[in-house]
Amino acid sequence: MKQFTSVADIGDLRKAVAEALEIKANRFAHTDLGRNRTLLMIFFNSSLRTRLSTQKAAMNLGMNVMVLDVNQGAWKLETERGVIMDGDKAEHLLEAIPVMGSYCDLIGVRSFAGLKDRDEDYEERVVGQFIKYSGRPVFSMEAATGHPLQAFADIITIEEHKTKERPKVVLTWAPHPKALPQAVPNSFAQWSVAAGYDVVITHPEGYELSPEFTAGATIEYDRAKAFEGADFVYAKNWSAYAGDNYGKVLSTDRSWTVDDATMAMTDNAYFMHCLPVRRNMIVTDSVIESPRSLVIPEAANREISAQTVIKRMLESL
Ligand code: CP
Repeated sequence: MKQFTSVADIGDLRKAVAEALEIKANRFAHTDLGRNRTLLMIFFNSSLRTRLSTQKAAMNLGMNVMVLDVNQGAWKLETERGVIMDGDKAEHLLEAIPVMGSYCDLIGVRSFAGLKDRDEDYEERVVGQFIKYSGRPVFSMEAATGHPLQAFADIITIEEHKTKERPKVVLTWAPHPKALPQAVPNSFAQWSVAAGYDVVITHPEGYELSPEFTAGATIEYDRAKAFEGADFVYAKNWSAYAGDNYGKVLSTDRSWTVDDATMAMTDNAYFMHCLPVRRNMIVTDSVIESPRSLVIPEAANREISAQTVIKRMLESL
């Protein structure tokens, strides 16, 4: 595997989940694979889970790990070609990327959407430049439009907990005070459809996601109908994708907060969220603390999704 930015890069998802579960059962079985190999993790944005789980995954494979927080201690980077660099950005990404590539064997990149220019965000310029210019296998640790390591961990978690072949999985928008990217819901929708689940997406009108990611899912504006018979409820906030509203907060309607009444509409569904989560905005204390909450197992499976991807990349060197 030379790049990992979307579900297409994982190949047969069933096989990938089987491999992930083998890794989970014996996560130190391949400690020689990464000997004398170095992973460079580059963060343009903050992280708790991705930073720790990916580093742990690489260490399980015997790798050395270097972490660069671009906005803390590195030169400010210009990303646009053709810009006259007379401002505060001291280095261009086009030099920085091959330099970083010269110090490592694999690269993980986190770079969120700017939420100002939809075309620019959906071109995935930053991770695309790392793929083009680093000379190394590159994986996304959440990019502008997708969070594939999270979605892979979510699928592993559903596979571990489902009691029927084709569970009903509901992705629900929930309120949040700030504008957030569409990366997590995009990937969750795309990976859940690829896993063969009955996927229903519910949100207030105006929050439609890109059809590129939701193809195969049912969009249901009637919230009660969406939750009926659900086996898994995946809550997430996202900002608007459509037209001139791109990147905007259109609603903070707290009737969309996932509470006990919401969960009572389901078939005793499990609750999921990628974290970090704003309690009593996205989900109530009682739902996230309930025995049906999977937020901690999901986060724990981030180590496993990352280890599966890194293992495949090491095998391709
Ligand atoms: N879910 C997730 O990616 O968490 P972090 O932003 O803390 O890495």
